[in-house]
Amino acid sequence: MSTYKMTSTTPSKTTRSIIIALFLLACFIFYLFYLTPPEFKYSTINLFKCPAAQGPVNNISTKTCLSVLKMQNLTCTGNITVDKPLMTTSASKPLTTAEKEEPDTILLIWMWPFGVGFGLGPCSSASNIHGCRLTDDRSLFNQAHGVMFHHRDISRDLSNMPKLPRPATQKWIWWNMESPSNSASNPQLKDLFNLTSSYRRDSDIPVPYGWLSEATEKEKNYTIPKKDKLICWVVSNYNPNFRRSQYFTELSKYITVDVHGRHFNKKINNDDYLNLMTSCKFYLSFENSIHKDYMTEKLFNPLAIGTVPVVIGPSRENYEQFIPSEAFIHVDDFPSPKELADHLKLMDQNDELYRQYFTWREHFVSKGASFGLDHACRICDHIRRNKHYKVAKDINSWYWG
Ligand SMILES: *[C@@H]1O[C@H](CO)[C@@H](O)[C@H](O)[C@H]1NC(C)=O
Ligand SMILES: *[C@@H]1O[C@H](CO)[C@@H](O)[C@H](O)[C@H]1NC(C)=O
Ligand SMILES: *[C@@H]1O[C@H](CO)[C@@H](O)[C@H](O)[C@H]1NC(C)=O
Ligand SMILES: *[C@@H]1O[C@H](CO)[C@@H](O)[C@H](O)[C@H]1NC(C)=O
Ligand SMILES: *[C@@H]1O[C@H](CO)[C@@H](O)[C@H](O)[C@H]1NC(C)=O
Repeated sequence: MSTYKMTSTTPSKTTRSIIIALFLLACFIFYLFYLTPPEFKYSTINLFKCPAAQGPVNNISTKTCLSVLKMQNLTCTGNITVDKPLMTTSASKPLTTAEKEEPDTILLIWMWPFGVGFGLGPCSSASNIHGCRLTDDRSLFNQAHGVMFHHRDISRDLSNMPKLPRPATQKWIWWNMESPSNSASNPQLKDLFNLTSSYRRDSDIPVPYGWLSEATEKEKNYTIPKKDKLICWVVSNYNPNFRRSQYFTELSKYITVDVHGRHFNKKINNDDYLNLMTSCKFYLSFENSIHKDYMTEKLFNPLAIGTVPVVIGPSRENYEQFIPSEAFIHVDDFPSPKELADHLKLMDQNDELYRQYFTWREHFVSKGASFGLDHACRICDHIRRNKHYKVAKDINSWYWG
């Protein structure tokens, strides 16, 4: 295409037609190789077939540990090795002919999120995504089809971004799981990226913190765990100005909330956190900031563990785009914290009504995204299937606008 531009200043008619013919031919070849629908190249992949919380529902300690650590700043006592066998031991499906022909898509993780590495296994066994090679080896920059950048770790002056000329077909992916309130915009991010990945559904590669997936026959046989507390809350990032703090203060006038976390001088480790959450009928899944689609592990952990989340976050309508209406209580369902307290007390007296919060559990189980690995695998899968030219929207006005 650039050849056309350069020679188009003084072309004779014949040269021009030859150039146009070549251009059309090039477009046709491009179409054949790159724009053929992916189902003809390799088998379709279910976006949501991603690594599940391992082991029994009441014992998900290490799986959620990293995100818990990150989001709630708790100490992690669990043994964070659970991902490794998951990534290396299970045999992947034999490749189809089409898959064998196409070389692996290379995704370079330019920086570790928050400086913490996550295991880079083949995506095939972890998330049923084939043909992806994840790497943190910067010497593969020129071969990489995609380069993934974690927003929080891009320095203000972009000094830690690649300096090398960018290969023409390489895609740069902006990745951020923090809400706009929890991450700073950077004007220099303009015109750098091709794709976005975040919890937001309007990202190019959306990856929510969790989702409900269909339960296996065995999982459908479900018993609500034993409860000896009515309502709990674990918070470390306590800010009196947050809406959740004000709501909590008001709510606790009418009902006893079992509180833990740094702010209350009751630090709790990861295993205790999960055990505590399990033993409570309700858990305050209060997000630290209110943004569309921003529902974190504070929501999906209680659902996974068998506790009913009481949410502060975006609207009920937005929550219902992720989870069934009966699976949670929204504080907006009640005119005031007092009415919510009354309702919770009533639920404490009536097991039959309480059990109705779990009807979804007959069909679904709550799964959490494996931070980093799931994101990398889905990004890689996306760039493998979508090879066309693409420029990301203006990230600053989209995310922080
Ligand atoms: C979780 O499972 C591990 C083994 O898979 C076991 O050693 C541990 O005691 C379990 N923890 C709880 C709280 O059940
Ligand atoms: C997390 O806790 C550590 C040590 O307790 C502290 O140094 C750090 O500032 C905390 N981070 C946040 C975001 O609260
Ligand atoms: C963590 O798990 C690994 C492998 O299963 C084991 O070798 C190691 O001793 C464990 N560490 C702790 C602290 O439990
Ligand atoms: C369901 O699980 C319980 C124990 O948790 C077991 O006793 C029962 O046989 C199971 N029922 C079915 C239909 O599998
Ligand atoms: C990626 O986006 C940048 C601008 O953000 C653009 O210069 C580059 O050509 C794009 N590359 C691809 C392969 O789409």
